[in-house]
Amino acid sequence: MRYKAIIFDMDGVLCFTDKYHYRAWKQMADKIDVYFDEKINNRLRGVSRMESLNIILKKADKEYSEQEKEQLADSKNEIYKKLLMNMTSEDFSREVRDTLDLLRSRGYKLAIGSSSKNAKLILKQVGLQDYFDKISDGTNITKSKPDPEVFLKAAEYLNVKPEECLVVEDAKAGINAACAGGFDSVGIGEASGYEKTTYSIAHFSQLANLDKLKR
Ligand code: BG6
Ligand code: MG
Repeated sequence: MRYKAIIFDMDGVLCFTDKYHYRAWKQMADKIDVYFDEKINNRLRGVSRMESLNIILKKADKEYSEQEKEQLADSKNEIYKKLLMNMTSEDFSREVRDTLDLLRSRGYKLAIGSSSKNAKLILKQVGLQDYFDKISDGTNITKSKPDPEVFLKAAEYLNVKPEECLVVEDAKAGINAACAGGFDSVGIGEASGYEKTTYSIAHFSQLANLDKLKR
């Protein structure tokens, strides 16, 4: 086996929270009269909550203090968490579930490497919490992707070296983070075909044929 472990980004790879992030940021932006659309939302993929807010506030016509920004980020998160309560096990597809089961049965260690501070809440909500040996998320890092910290922590928790792991990501920021940490990566969605990925896939189930993936 070329790899001992697989580290999965969560949002956009295992489940699809984009629409909830969008609706929550949109409500917050409307409240302070700042323009926000789905195109700007796409740029928030993989980056931390505060960095996302800084991107959104580029459209604002005033400066916000750090304290005001904390309040805005908190208000978005409160709306987001309420929306997350709409998620069910249906938001975690059969394809993802079956592929994870298969990878586990083949002896791979599985971990989460997510920038989100809500990762554990989401995994619990969709019934995914027992699928992973370790979770590295927004609560145990000081630097967000494209910094490799979240993946380096996941590898450390799993007790494997970066070169023994494969990172699965949908965001370019995440692929850059994997590269910076010395990890091979699989790009899916927006990151599929990105020149820095080691492998690209169109469907999650292609991970079942890991040994046959072409570089
Ligand atoms: C990432 C998402 O997984 O988590 C980003 O792709 C999001 O869009 C980031 O900003 C932080 O999420 P949270 O849940 O901590 O606000
Ligand atoms: Mg993602």
